[in-house]
Amino acid sequence: AQDKRESLYIVSNYAAKFFADKMWNSEEGKTIGLSYFKERGFRDDIIKKFELGYSPDDWSALLDSAVKEGYQQEFLEQVGLVIKNDQGRVYDRFRGRVMFPIHNFTGRVIGFGGRTLKTDKSSPKYVNSPESDIYHKSNVLYGLFQAKKAIRDFDNCYLVEGYADVLSVQQAGVENVVASSGTSLTTEQIKLIGRFTKSVTILYDGDTAGIKASLRGLDMILEEGLDVKVVLFPDGHDPDSYIQKFGAAAFKSHINSHQKDFIFYKTEILLQDANNDPIKKAGVIRDVVESIAKIPDAIKASIFVRECSSILQMEERILIAELNKIRLSNS
Ligand code: GTP
Ligand code: MN
Ligand code: MN
Ligand code: MN
Ligand code: MN
Repeated sequence: AQDKRESLYIVSNYAAKFFADKMWNSEEGKTIGLSYFKERGFRDDIIKKFELGYSPDDWSALLDSAVKEGYQQEFLEQVGLVIKNDQGRVYDRFRGRVMFPIHNFTGRVIGFGGRTLKTDKSSPKYVNSPESDIYHKSNVLYGLFQAKKAIRDFDNCYLVEGYADVLSVQQAGVENVVASSGTSLTTEQIKLIGRFTKSVTILYDGDTAGIKASLRGLDMILEEGLDVKVVLFPDGHDPDSYIQKFGAAAFKSHINSHQKDFIFYKTEILLQDANNDPIKKAGVIRDVVESIAKIPDAIKASIFVRECSSILQMEERILIAELNKIRLSNS
């Protein structure tokens, strides 16, 4: 089984090299793939650091080349780089897409994300590798291999939604950044971050989906005993679009001036909806106390109770009573 996994790593590594080679050295790759990344503002050093590439718009470019080099079709199928349909026809999964190799945290290629270059909605924006013996998407954070040293050094991890966000944030000189890439954040991913730092800052997209995901994410992070802050981006921006529009310096100052402890963030978001309605406000209080109840450390929890009581102008003992009630019903 170990031998088989090794074969899957080797064939995935070959594919990453193939896609990169096509992007840097073929006419199609240069004019379509490389120019796409350049137009989005990515520098060569970032494109190389993440081993980005391009999959030719062809049914079997990778398959043909790999087989010619002596790699077994069977292994390409097992990592989903090649698909065999019901008629037994075999073809490349990724065609005419810019390619983001996904590394595990030791740096081995385990899967891919491929972005379409089409602007219409005829095909999904991103196609990802399927689950395989070496790729379990719920256990992986995009960019962790490139970020892990900085995460340790700064004792903090920025968490973004997408591949492009990781690239732009890194390019802005902030290297402690990872993405959950499409999947909603999992407990395994948080545990993985927890091996490098106990402090997470969520930088999700400033849209409805991003805000919803951030509220869910922060509860999960608290449950794992990590500290969490959140930065909201304005006008539907994500970290990538913000950086490309306003620049690296503006981005850094935005995250420094807008990062909020989860309790301020959650209270503010929920209070906006509650609109001074006293019944809704009671719901907000309960909701915020529910997040506090997820914090395993009792001393930290009591500090947040105090903060919460001052933000919401609500007596501490009432919050504590609520907290104990939630704790009891959760246990
Ligand atoms: P760009 O347009 O390249 O900047 O993408 P984005 O990262 O801003 O995309 P978005 O905010 O819509 O989605 C965030 C992440 O979700 C992406 O980076 C992907 O990992 C994932 N995702 C987005 N669209 C799709 C899709 O159509 N299919 C799948 N499987 N994943 C997607
Ligand atoms: Mn989307
Ligand atoms: Mn989004
Ligand atoms: Mn986005
Ligand atoms: Mn984006």
